[in-house]
Amino acid sequence: MKPTKIADGVYDVGVIDWNIRDFHGYSTDRGTSYNAYLVVDEKIALIDTVKAPFADQLIGNISQIIDPKKIDVVVSNHTEMDHSGALPRIMHRVGEDKPLYCSKMGGKNLASHFPNAWNYHPVEDGEELTLGKRTLAFMETRMIHWPDSMFTYLKENHILFSSDGFGQHYAGFDKFDDQAGTDLMVQAKKYYANILLLYAPRILKLLEKVVASGIQIDMICPDHGVIWRQGPGRIIDAYLKWSRQEQEKKAVVIYDTMWKSTEAMANAIAEGISLTGVKVKPIHIRSSHRSDIMTEVLDAAAVVVGSPTLNNQMFPTVADVLVYMKGLKPENRIGGAFGSYGWSGESVKLVTAELEAMKFTMIEPGPRLQYVPDGAGIDACIEYGKKIGDAVNAKLL
Ligand code: FEO
Repeated sequence: MKPTKIADGVYDVGVIDWNIRDFHGYSTDRGTSYNAYLVVDEKIALIDTVKAPFADQLIGNISQIIDPKKIDVVVSNHTEMDHSGALPRIMHRVGEDKPLYCSKMGGKNLASHFPNAWNYHPVEDGEELTLGKRTLAFMETRMIHWPDSMFTYLKENHILFSSDGFGQHYAGFDKFDDQAGTDLMVQAKKYYANILLLYAPRILKLLEKVVASGIQIDMICPDHGVIWRQGPGRIIDAYLKWSRQEQEKKAVVIYDTMWKSTEAMANAIAEGISLTGVKVKPIHIRSSHRSDIMTEVLDAAAVVVGSPTLNNQMFPTVADVLVYMKGLKPENRIGGAFGSYGWSGESVKLVTAELEAMKFTMIEPGPRLQYVPDGAGIDACIEYGKKIGDAVNAKLL
């Protein structure tokens, strides 16, 4: 693939993974890219690599600009193997003795992944490296997305190489935000909801520090998806909103169903919510990937979860979604639980306990109906939906 010129002497030499559809449990319906950046100055720096199977493509892309042996410095912003998998091939090609810049934690984590005796240069937060006319500044950004994560800032060009931060799983030859399709922000939102939400307080602190510093950012180059050049402010503002867990007048009704009874309840609850003017979406778990469900949860003020009772438990797919959601730590939501049952009917209690563990403000009692809901049962669900909607309206006046 032809490298993308980003600025004078700055190139994206990364690769596109068109066919990936599952990224460690996250559905990547638009594929992804593993971006890597080459800065050609008096010294030449390679920032990040790609997943191991794409190493040859990366080397081919670099070779269109310079002989890889001429690379003086390799920077690893993040150890996860979608960005470091090609390091052994790259270091072999570039020269095993060439300096490998990383965070302090990166030095430890890379050594745990690769038993090579590389020439590690762990850096302090704020440390700089002169390439000649231009300077790389390293910024520690722990937990965006691993403890080793850092950003690298090319000072003279005002370009931020942000590793996983501001990324999207989005494959395409159009490499810039102003060229990408209309679902770019949806993919960016999905990425945040599924990869970064649990670190929201830390991300917020970092962004506020960056904004307060007045540092000029003309371009943000993440390691996945498109480069933000039209207005990096757009994605920074979105990150501020998501990190503050700002919500819309919106509810999601997430459910699974065995014989359509819980589904009938879900639809009636959604109808009740809708009657209050709150936007609502019923989501059948087995028709939606958990990562898409989480994307909807990100800006929803109310999360209502329905489950049939199966073998005295909640339905297994509901447990899957709740475990996943709990790990990602959505905060400050209105919660609701409901479900149908045949004889024992534990599901509503169990779902309620899970949502309470996430510190959701529960609207109780949630409807719990035996076998097939009758007219009165459906009416009770509509009324419950109205209570949820009223609570959302009261919260977001
Ligand atoms: Fe794209 Fe956390 O790796």
